[in-house]
Amino acid sequence: MTPPFMPLPKFLSALFASFAVNHGFFRFAPSLPHSTVPSLMKIAVLSGDGIGPEVMDASLLVFRKVAERFQLQPQFTEALVGGIAIDRTGKALPEETIATCHASEAILFGSVGGPKWESLPPNEQPERAALLPLRKIFGLYANLRPAICYPELVNASPIKNELMPGGFDILVVRELTGGIYFGQPKKTEATPTGERATDTLVYETHEIERAAHVAFRAALARSKKVHLIDKANVLESSLLWRKTVKRIAQDYPGVQLEFMYVDNAAMQVMKNPRQFDVMLCENMFGDILSDEVAAATGSLGLLPSASLAEGSFGLYEPSGGTAPDIAGKGIANPIAQILSIALMLEYSFQRLDAAQAIRAAVQRVIASGTRTADIWAEGCQKAGTQAMGQAIAEAI
Ligand code: IPM
Ligand code: MG
Repeated sequence: MTPPFMPLPKFLSALFASFAVNHGFFRFAPSLPHSTVPSLMKIAVLSGDGIGPEVMDASLLVFRKVAERFQLQPQFTEALVGGIAIDRTGKALPEETIATCHASEAILFGSVGGPKWESLPPNEQPERAALLPLRKIFGLYANLRPAICYPELVNASPIKNELMPGGFDILVVRELTGGIYFGQPKKTEATPTGERATDTLVYETHEIERAAHVAFRAALARSKKVHLIDKANVLESSLLWRKTVKRIAQDYPGVQLEFMYVDNAAMQVMKNPRQFDVMLCENMFGDILSDEVAAATGSLGLLPSASLAEGSFGLYEPSGGTAPDIAGKGIANPIAQILSIALMLEYSFQRLDAAQAIRAAVQRVIASGTRTADIWAEGCQKAGTQAMGQAIAEAI
């Protein structure tokens, strides 16, 4: 049993304050006191494939600028990951990269995968052989995907404006190291008539509890509502989620808990996204719904994510993937990567001040009408990846 007011791990205390202050358009709350954490920051930089390296470069312009302003000392160590690591070393997640990550306090991740490596055996492909092991090795059990539809960008959203006046602000909290992604057995075997493939959806109480705590803590600093997304009318594991989350909810009397089937949730996001505050999901439902809410904000290129372990270690990456169709063209939106740096500063380094400065700069640049192609509209100035990074750095 978890006592209601157990001491918070570092990142959870940050969580408490974070969502209240960082989504400036919708929510306001007092800021945390200025941090006393030393400013030397050991960061592993894993750019990966596709648009990864170009958005990473643009985001580091912003990181350097914010470091200068807030006297931070980021120490970046680059390491290979994904397809490029396969090409150069034969492995998507080389030992040296794992060692670099172990020696760091946080990982800034780009994206991995692409058509070039899709014909490799599944277990050697970048997603399976790099991203999933990283999550497991570093115990990154809680994945936070804040999806904000900015008021200036409501027209970029595929959802009709009248269904979401002023945009929306949803936080998907996705369990990231359990469920059908990792459950055993996972195998393919021959049968007399063909083959049989098995994936196993399995959860244990403690995995649900820790994810639920993250969701409730986050909700406390936001609109105080958690929707548990499940399929409790079919799945045994969903029943355990419901039972466990209901119990954990008693520790958070100020937070309203609702249950919603995942199929209904997918529909409700389209019809009334403003009803949601925090959506707590098991691994695969969270994967699917986070893409849906991301698309609903107007562009996948806007969405950062934090994958958090116990303590303050985390991996920070854009939610959007490698976008092979536009890779190398210098037109990708670097905002998701830039906002991932803000999440890192907040959760791994407790520098809300610097995180806020980045978010404010992003909002200013969006409001000023400087836009990458994905969020461009009539009357705006079109910017490439680097120019967008530069503009945001200058706005710091
Ligand atoms: C994500 C991605 C990954 C996932 C893939 C690339 C393995 O879709 O981070 O959402 O399914 O978790
Ligand atoms: Mg996904």
